[in-house]
Amino acid sequence: MLIGAGGMLATDLECVLRSAGHDVQVITEHDVDITDKAAVAGMPGGADVLINCAAYTNVDGAESAVDMAYKVNADGAGNLARWCFASKTRMLHISTDYVFDGAKREPYTENDAVCPLNVYGKSKLQGEALVRLSGCDHLIIRTQSLFGRNGKNFVRTIMDLMGKGIKPLKVVSDQVSCPTYTVHLATAISTLLDSRDQGILNISSSGSCSWFEFAREIAGLVRPDYGITPVQTSGFPRPAKRPAYSVLDKTLYKNMTGRFLPDWRSGLQEYLSEGYSI
Ligand SMILES: NC(=O)c1ccc[n+]([C@@H]2O[C@H](COP(=O)([O-])OP(=O)(O)OC[C@H]3O[C@@H](n4cnc5c(N)ncnc54)[C@H](OP(=O)(O)O)[C@@H]3O)[C@@H](O)[C@H]2O)c1
Repeated sequence: MLIGAGGMLATDLECVLRSAGHDVQVITEHDVDITDKAAVAGMPGGADVLINCAAYTNVDGAESAVDMAYKVNADGAGNLARWCFASKTRMLHISTDYVFDGAKREPYTENDAVCPLNVYGKSKLQGEALVRLSGCDHLIIRTQSLFGRNGKNFVRTIMDLMGKGIKPLKVVSDQVSCPTYTVHLATAISTLLDSRDQGILNISSSGSCSWFEFAREIAGLVRPDYGITPVQTSGFPRPAKRPAYSVLDKTLYKNMTGRFLPDWRSGLQEYLSEGYSI
């Protein structure tokens, strides 16, 4: 059962799961609003696994839509977790690197102390807590900086700005993460459906880069002549604070599965090979 099925990760996940031969029941916000306790409680049982991709994901918007962010990311996740407990359904819940403050300068493990800087991160952290408290069989998957075929994402934004000829194209160079192609993440998630592991698991691409380096790589592949200008976060104010460094350590995932996800550059090349152009 795939919740939040209209979103960027979920649409690629649905394709990957179907190609792997799974029977997928898709639930969009139109079918069930996860903040509606009664609607969630009334969902039909029978699934082996529920994957929650539904979230309020507008990081800057969450700073002024605090109630909505908590309703969806915390209460909604809790409602689904209680349904999973009652129906004995395993829950895979998607969470975020934004539970960290970015003060550490080496990759964050699943056991590192959390300290979110913004409302989105705080609401997602509360969602994780409610999933754990529900007592359901669960795995919380923390991921980061997604770009996928069906959704607003950084790659599309940079390509749109280049298409409009915006110059100088300024991108922050002091926020480092692991841009992750949703198809790679979805493939990883699909291999975990049968796992019995509990708790938190980091999954994102290999390697790391700043948003500036990521933009430069995008430009290099689609418009090599287009210059990208590095700027500091302080010169690019936004409503939500973001961690300066949020690279996730994937050692646990490697130990569980014997592999890492491909490098972020491979993800980008694969994404662009789908035929996106400016
Ligand atoms: N995008 C990233 O860079 C990133 C990074 C780290 C972690 N994550 C996590 O990864 C997961 C998937 O993210 P995404 O980027 O694919 O998000 P997305 O494209 O914004 O999709 C989220 C989905 O949730 C649905 N939704 C929102 N409120 C809902 C509600 N009350 N009831 C039911 N469904 C609701 C949305 O439906 P509507 O569109 O109809 O509102 C949308 O289809 C989320 O848990 C997110 O926190 C994302």
